[in-house]
Amino acid sequence: MMANDQAAGLRRKINSMKTPKEAKTISIISGKGGVGKSNFALNFSLQLIKNEKKVLLFDLDVGMGNIDILMGLRAKKTIIDMFDERLSVHDIIETGPIGLSYIAAGSGMTNFFKLNGEDKTHFYEQYKELVQMYDYILFDMGAGVTEEGLYFILSSDECIVITNPEPTSLTDAYGMIKHVINNQSSMPVYIVMNRAASHREGVKSLQGFTGVVTKFLDVQINSMGIIPDDKVVTQAVIRQVPYVLYNEKSKAAKAIKEIADNYLVNSNEVDRSSPFSFVRKLKQLIER
Ligand SMILES: Nc1ncnc2c1ncn2[C@@H]1O[C@H](COP(=O)(O)OP(=O)(O)OP(=O)(O)O)[C@@H](O)[C@H]1O
Ligand SMILES: [Mg+2]
Repeated sequence: MMANDQAAGLRRKINSMKTPKEAKTISIISGKGGVGKSNFALNFSLQLIKNEKKVLLFDLDVGMGNIDILMGLRAKKTIIDMFDERLSVHDIIETGPIGLSYIAAGSGMTNFFKLNGEDKTHFYEQYKELVQMYDYILFDMGAGVTEEGLYFILSSDECIVITNPEPTSLTDAYGMIKHVINNQSSMPVYIVMNRAASHREGVKSLQGFTGVVTKFLDVQINSMGIIPDDKVVTQAVIRQVPYVLYNEKSKAAKAIKEIADNYLVNSNEVDRSSPFSFVRKLKQLIER
């Protein structure tokens, strides 16, 4: 019995040596702008950290990024500097509250495709380092979708779509999901209903929306949860403190906690039979 236990332990050890740990890459997206992606990305990241996960928040809203502003910080380096000064990813990772790592978007580079081959290779190599350092890497994307944005989304392991109950936001979220699914039907899609006037209204909107998506797009999407419309969110944005830290008893903070707890219990393991899937997929898409 003892020998069996030891053998199993040894096998586990050898297996974990063969496959390096790899972060799950998650894109936070929306159709319409201003629906609450950045606030969700930031507060969800912090909630994962409270659950002892290692998290990197990567602001990919280049030119319009504001993750550091939401934390009252000013990043010294950004992803743009990584290319301009050929820095390592370790040089551009900044530290936020409670040990959150983040990379700021900066402004300048507007097109990943315009980077030369060496710059792209540099990015792939650096990203391979990143995935081994974290449990989760979250991309805060810009609103809507550019071609390069789409490639980053399609290369992710999962995407979380943020919407609110307004018809305009729902229609655009639907369009976004359709676009992603048309390009990659196996992409796991999660939906968050933000700014619900009441829990009841949130449930109704979320059920209605997932019903329409399932019926017309023939895809299974996961309801991730509801975040109420909460004035604490606006106050926290003005004070430049993420709301899960500004007021952890607020309705919005409690909702994020529930969303993160459920997510950690229910989300699926990613198949890592072939390593560095993000970089592999991105390369394939960009170089095809
Ligand atoms: N749950 C909420 N309750 C109340 N207000 C909210 C909530 N979520 C977001 N907001 C408001 O919406 C504003 C926009 O949020 P945020 O910047 O996160 O959106 P975004 O989707 O990232 O926008 P963009 O498309 O410009 O990147 C916030 O500054 C805040 O005032
Ligand atoms: Mg944003």
